[in-house]
Amino acid sequence: MVEHKESGYGWVGIDKESDFLKTRKSELQMNSGIHGLDICDPDELERAAKLFYRDGFVCVKEVLTADQLSFLRSGCDRVIKEMLDLDPARTGNRGSHRYSFGGASKTGGQLHHPEWAMLVDIPIVSEIVSAIFGSADYIVRSGGGDFCLPGAIDYQPLHSDMSDRQVISGRQGKEFVFGSFSDPEGRMNYRDLPCPYICCNFLATDFTRLNGPTRQIAGTQRSQQPMPSLEQEPAWMKLSTVCPVPAGSVLIRDVRAWHGGTPNLSEEVRAIPNVEYFAPWFREPMPISMPYDVYQTLSAEGKLRCRYIVGQPGEALQTGYRKYLGGTPPGSQSRPVDMSSSELMA
Ligand SMILES: [Fe+2]
Repeated sequence: MVEHKESGYGWVGIDKESDFLKTRKSELQMNSGIHGLDICDPDELERAAKLFYRDGFVCVKEVLTADQLSFLRSGCDRVIKEMLDLDPARTGNRGSHRYSFGGASKTGGQLHHPEWAMLVDIPIVSEIVSAIFGSADYIVRSGGGDFCLPGAIDYQPLHSDMSDRQVISGRQGKEFVFGSFSDPEGRMNYRDLPCPYICCNFLATDFTRLNGPTRQIAGTQRSQQPMPSLEQEPAWMKLSTVCPVPAGSVLIRDVRAWHGGTPNLSEEVRAIPNVEYFAPWFREPMPISMPYDVYQTLSAEGKLRCRYIVGQPGEALQTGYRKYLGGTPPGSQSRPVDMSSSELMA
């Protein structure tokens, strides 16, 4: 976002003139980006659905008007500033200089802001999501997304945004449940299912080679193979970034597809606010994250899709930010990896 170019939001405690970063920058400049990346026009519904099922993701350009993009940027700018005021050292909640909008919020999302609520009601995106699910009866799970600052120099490990149900024991015998899908007979896991869960990331800025575009590994949405760690990950995967893609586009992801954040060595903040959808036949527990007055601004279709996350009339949702911006779950934090320049050049 242009507003941040000279704002000093990034590069806190990092020497951007180091030899390491100069080398990394030139490597990305030369080699980052998926060759022959397909980008759909907004009216190519069938092609978008086909590419989504082939690759586990698809980019569609020009889904936001200039006014919508400007409105979305203003919302991102406001929330980013509020979050950074709470984190002057840029510790991040997904690694240094890297942040989840949803993870930082007490509701788990940002749909209490009109700029995010707008994203639920973009007709062209709703049509594409309908084409993907084969039905318009899908529902909104939440809306958040992420951003990274200049100076997010590390890679986030490849990961999936969902999993089979896992029960993890915490302190004082407290149990935490992650994920929902579970087959008591053990015949299937969540990767055997048709796509249950879609994330629509809206590009508030261009995705460029240098500003931390998402990397997506095509065709991995149904893979039963273990995901490589940062140390095991081959160079071609680290360079498999979704770029260049213009601002105002949407990156629609099957959240099971292997993906991760990449370094932002530019001078701009890269933000991709999102809306997340469950298939008509899939459910997980969903926190209430949209106030009733915001819900009232939606179209009839938008209201229907948000019926499980809306608060009661007059109910004041607890919004604001979590302590330490929600912290960082294991496996989601970007971190340094020992990686020779020759490996990235391969
Ligand atoms: Fe993710």
